[in-house]
Amino acid sequence: MTSFDAPTVIRTKRDGGVLSDDAIDWVIDAYTYDRVADAQMSALLMAIFLRGMTTAEIARWTAAMVASGDKLDFSDLRRGGRPLALVDKHSTGGVGDKITIPLVPVIMACGGAVPQAAGRGLGHTGGTLDKLEAIPGFTAEITKAQIRQQLCDLGAAIFAAGELAPADRKIYALRDVTGTTESLPLIASSVMSKKIAEGTRALVLDCKVGSGAFLATEAESRELARTMVDLGTEHGLLTRALLTDMNTPLGRTVGNAVEVVESLEVLSGGGPDDVVELTLALAREMLDAAGVDGVDPAQTLQDGSAMDRFRALVAAQGGDAGTLSAEALPTGAHSETVTATRGGTMGDIDAMAVGLAVWRLGAGRSEPGARVQSGAGMRVHRRPGEPVAAGEPLFTLYTDTPQRFPAALAELDGAWSVDDEPPATRPLIIDRIT
Ligand code: URA
Repeated sequence: MTSFDAPTVIRTKRDGGVLSDDAIDWVIDAYTYDRVADAQMSALLMAIFLRGMTTAEIARWTAAMVASGDKLDFSDLRRGGRPLALVDKHSTGGVGDKITIPLVPVIMACGGAVPQAAGRGLGHTGGTLDKLEAIPGFTAEITKAQIRQQLCDLGAAIFAAGELAPADRKIYALRDVTGTTESLPLIASSVMSKKIAEGTRALVLDCKVGSGAFLATEAESRELARTMVDLGTEHGLLTRALLTDMNTPLGRTVGNAVEVVESLEVLSGGGPDDVVELTLALAREMLDAAGVDGVDPAQTLQDGSAMDRFRALVAAQGGDAGTLSAEALPTGAHSETVTATRGGTMGDIDAMAVGLAVWRLGAGRSEPGARVQSGAGMRVHRRPGEPVAAGEPLFTLYTDTPQRFPAALAELDGAWSVDDEPPATRPLIIDRIT
């Protein structure tokens, strides 16, 4: 391989040039094996953030991240003599986006098999692993042998990417603390490298649109969805995307344990309408992509079969299924409530502001590898369009470290309103990209 050096690669991108295939392969490999320093990769990520990448650069960057680690293969696995209906879902990141937690057991109960490499919180958005680790004992650090066993016996495994796309693990953590998250090439390559490596056969992407999404406009989110669907297809993965609204938080909870509690409500046949609607829309896409027909995912929420699967999944990954209740899961030791100063109708609630407030409460990280607070989070008592009486609670904030409240409350300033008229309604599912 031609020899490269980090300063030259950084300058090429900084000055708006196109990185050659060899330069991309070199820098991803060198960073994975610590021959490029965090400071140098941070500079390159910022240059990519500012200058963007061509379609060919994104494809090569993604392929190099896939090649940085192992690729799982479950094509030999059988259940009842038939190959597993392998299918996964990944979200580009939202606020209150707990959908994976009810969705995976729904797919299990319908006969699909989900090999899910999941992530931790990124920027103002929460991560599935941080949420599930709020369940005492739950671990996502499971071996390949255990993933295979769970897929055959239970129909799912939710695991830290580990040796899959290790370049992404390092770059993801660095982006989280260097202000380089909101970049189309970096999001597309991050999501797709893990998903290509994890061994699923089909993939449904939940591509967020709106104030709480990483990309600011619907046009950019569409382009992100198109880019990811094309990347998946080039790698032989049946890939589809739903564009979904992320202007306001999903459901009534944002944080770690609080989102698990709300997911349990959905798995018990209740829960907020938007969480149920999105769970079922993604489930239908996944089952269709996996070729599973003749089953009704909504039924699995009503008859308890999805809840049974969730309990079995939690137990298989070391979690104490006895703690799956609002009373037993952790809640921040301190709380603050924001109340309505007037009556009326709840207006729009800005998802980005809520995401940042919850991050400030301790649900996310400001340093790589930092511990998050399982009990940090927020309850949204009144959703947009709901009636509000003067003096009633609108938001309750939780944390173990009360000195965090002022900054969190400041994020909420101007992020919501109580009005005379209800806000304009928006569809949750905006479009489908295949
Ligand atoms: N999810 C990922 O895995 N990576 C991103 O960059 C954003 C969401």
